[in-house]
Amino acid sequence: MATDTRPTRRPVMLPGHSAPAAGLEAPFEMLAACHDRVERMLALQGKLQRHLLDKGCDGPARQAARDVMRYFDLAAPLHHQDEELHVFPPLLAGPDAGLRKLVQRLVLDHRHMETAWLEARRTLQAIAVSPAFGGLPLTPVQTAALDQFAALYRGHLDDENSIVYPAAQAMLPPGAVQGMSEDMMQRRGVHPQRQPHPPAL
Ligand SMILES: [Fe+2]
Ligand SMILES: [Fe+2]
Repeated sequence: MATDTRPTRRPVMLPGHSAPAAGLEAPFEMLAACHDRVERMLALQGKLQRHLLDKGCDGPARQAARDVMRYFDLAAPLHHQDEELHVFPPLLAGPDAGLRKLVQRLVLDHRHMETAWLEARRTLQAIAVSPAFGGLPLTPVQTAALDQFAALYRGHLDDENSIVYPAAQAMLPPGAVQGMSEDMMQRRGVHPQRQPHPPAL
């Protein structure tokens, strides 16, 4: 039987998802898809906190904790790199002082998120390996760690979606967008002409 050896350009798949995701060939669409994923993971984290209060720690709670950890361990750092390598620099070098100030704050947000993630992750790891919690599922310190981590993302995503991404898209020439796409694929181990392994988005 003849085999079609032409290169395939199948849609890149998000880890843990069966539906096609935004292609890496359209980097800004992929960045927006990543924000959707962040929001879903933060919603899952909130649902997990409520579940612990209502039902305590069980199998679904442990799985949810693992899912949230997996996303923020693997994909979130790559997303921040995408932005710091390709989205933020043209705005930091641009003429708009307001935009420069906003982007400087977003970079600082990333550093705060990295620190806050260490605390939130410690709590999620405790949930993931715990056979059960007692009457009070999480301590106030653990709850604050999860809440603070989620709160850091809220305004950040809004500013990127509504101001920073459109401004960067308007400034970047097509060649730069192509280079951005290639770099994002390369850092995820995806070859543009081969069927990719699921990358971390
Ligand atoms: Fe960001
Ligand atoms: Fe972002």
